Amino acid sequence: MCGIVGYIGPRPVLPILIGGLKKLEYRGYDSSGCAAVTPDNTMLVFKAKGKVSNLEEKTKECQQPCTLGIAHTRWATHGIPSETNAHPHLSQSGNLAIVHNGIIENYATLRDQLRKRGYTFKSETDTEVLVQLIEYIMNIRHSDLATSVRSALRLCIGAYAIAVVDRRVPTQMVAARKSSPLAIGIGKENGEFFIASDASPIAEYTNRIVYLNDEDVALIEQGKELQIENLHSGSVDYEIKEVDLDLTMLDKGGFPHFMLKEIFDQPTVLKDCMRGRIIERDGSLRVVLSAVEQHKQRLVSARRFTIVSCGTSWHAGLIGKQLIEHFCRIHTEVAYASEYRYNDVVVDPDEVVIAISQSGETADTLAAIEIAKKHGAMVFGIVNSVGSSIARQTDTGTYVHIGPEIGVASTKAFTGQVTVLAMLALALGHERGTVDHEEYEEVLRELTRIPDKIDHILRQNDRIRDMARIFTYAHNCLYLGRGWNYPVALEGALKLKEISYIHAEGYPAAEMKHGPIALIDQDMPVIFIATHHRLYQKIISNMQEVLSRKGRIFAIVTEGDEQVRNMCAEVIEVPDTLACLEPLLTVIPLQLLSYHVAVAKQLNVDQPRNLAKSVTVE
Ligand code: F6R
Repeated sequence: MCGIVGYIGPRPVLPILIGGLKKLEYRGYDSSGCAAVTPDNTMLVFKAKGKVSNLEEKTKECQQPCTLGIAHTRWATHGIPSETNAHPHLSQSGNLAIVHNGIIENYATLRDQLRKRGYTFKSETDTEVLVQLIEYIMNIRHSDLATSVRSALRLCIGAYAIAVVDRRVPTQMVAARKSSPLAIGIGKENGEFFIASDASPIAEYTNRIVYLNDEDVALIEQGKELQIENLHSGSVDYEIKEVDLDLTMLDKGGFPHFMLKEIFDQPTVLKDCMRGRIIERDGSLRVVLSAVEQHKQRLVSARRFTIVSCGTSWHAGLIGKQLIEHFCRIHTEVAYASEYRYNDVVVDPDEVVIAISQSGETADTLAAIEIAKKHGAMVFGIVNSVGSSIARQTDTGTYVHIGPEIGVASTKAFTGQVTVLAMLALALGHERGTVDHEEYEEVLRELTRIPDKIDHILRQNDRIRDMARIFTYAHNCLYLGRGWNYPVALEGALKLKEISYIHAEGYPAAEMKHGPIALIDQDMPVIFIATHHRLYQKIISNMQEVLSRKGRIFAIVTEGDEQVRNMCAEVIEVPDTLACLEPLLTVIPLQLLSYHVAVAKQLNVDQPRNLAKSVTVE
């Protein structure tokens, strides 16, 4: 998704902008651009299609000492990826430049009105309409930049994070947000400021961050105090947060891709996720989540839980439903946030809505939260990005704490989310008395063993890489699992399609006979998750159905399994664990499999086509 970077201060601006855009590359983009203002009031604009390194090449020639600038990575929404449509966009006079994330929904109406007043447009973007509107207001009202931006935004419907500069005033920048994140870093040198879509481009310069709230407009002037006004409520008393982002976590750490690093990070980050939450005292274990401690009454007496999320986080939610129903005996629904936001939902005020999001910025999930709150439900966030919009808009919650996830395909966030859901279900079940003490301790004990078991699976990486070659020739794959492993089948299929572009479907194994069985032939690999648990024999029957249609079976099995092995072209073993925690293990080989298929096909693993890391448009 698009990314914004900006700087004002004594340092040369272009290296800061380019460096910042590189830190945002993980969000996904198709073009980039930047604008810098020289001390003699010239606006320099550079744009390039493709990688930020192409933009960097173009800026290298520039010798001008600019100290104010804005930059952007664009992921096309209105208009094709091209230099013309890339940001920044200039106003008619060339005095103003803007970068924008989000969508101005009424841009066509505004553009028609501006055209009638003599404005012409070079690009197909909604963003160019916004900068022209700001200039139009500035001209007719003779207002300053901040006032004109505020007036223009009042006329806009939609979502935005923007930064605007005026070449005539090289000491100031105006930034604003609505439904799209924007952070302002208060620098250490001579009144400097940084802005960015998240804290990662800012972290190497300062940890003092102000997060704008919806409809806040900031006037950022070098050497002066930051001023923020809300479009409706006027002057804002903002809070400066000290955010500690571990910069080493943003590096690939010797791995060829972020995705592989993040798969291998899982044993470590899951320990981080449980640290301080699963506590051993006098030989017995307890789980303590501060959100549960603070809101015990409301959570324990909830009549129903509804989980809202998207994509991989939705798959984690399906496991969360089973965990909550099993340990807490509370009815739990799982909804796609994108559907929930527009459905005529029935929300009980005694209900708790759980929003799961890695990025904390997913527009659909944010909208679902708003609906749930409007109906009086308590909203509990399970979010990874600290200080993100979802983290701030939920009533309470638990951070996943698995560090930034950079690879577009989500891996460690999934296992982190499932780990948090397991801790939450156990904590609530314990409070409600719906889980007996022995089982509670047994599951907690096993949860603490999961990182080592994942480590063990990761040692099969080379074998999985060899097996992946077979899949590079496939056009379709079927992933089948049951019970706790049905969501893992969905997640395995999603991982394969998003980075290897091979069509894959996940199904509950017994559903296969109701349709997908028609697809089975010798060319379609079928992957079963066939571990030793309650439905093991049933899964074996499902495998027989595939074999009798000449299907080729690959399976994830429990260590030591011989029966399934004899039915398969290949098996990958995972250590035995409790059924409810199996998804934390069975998903690992599937993550590695998709990774190696994409690498074998020489695809861009970390930034697959058409995908963005954080989906801030609906
Ligand atoms: C898949 C993937 C997406 C996200 C989805 C929700 O690998 O990354 O399906 O899971 O866009 O994103 P978050 O969790 O950031 O709300």
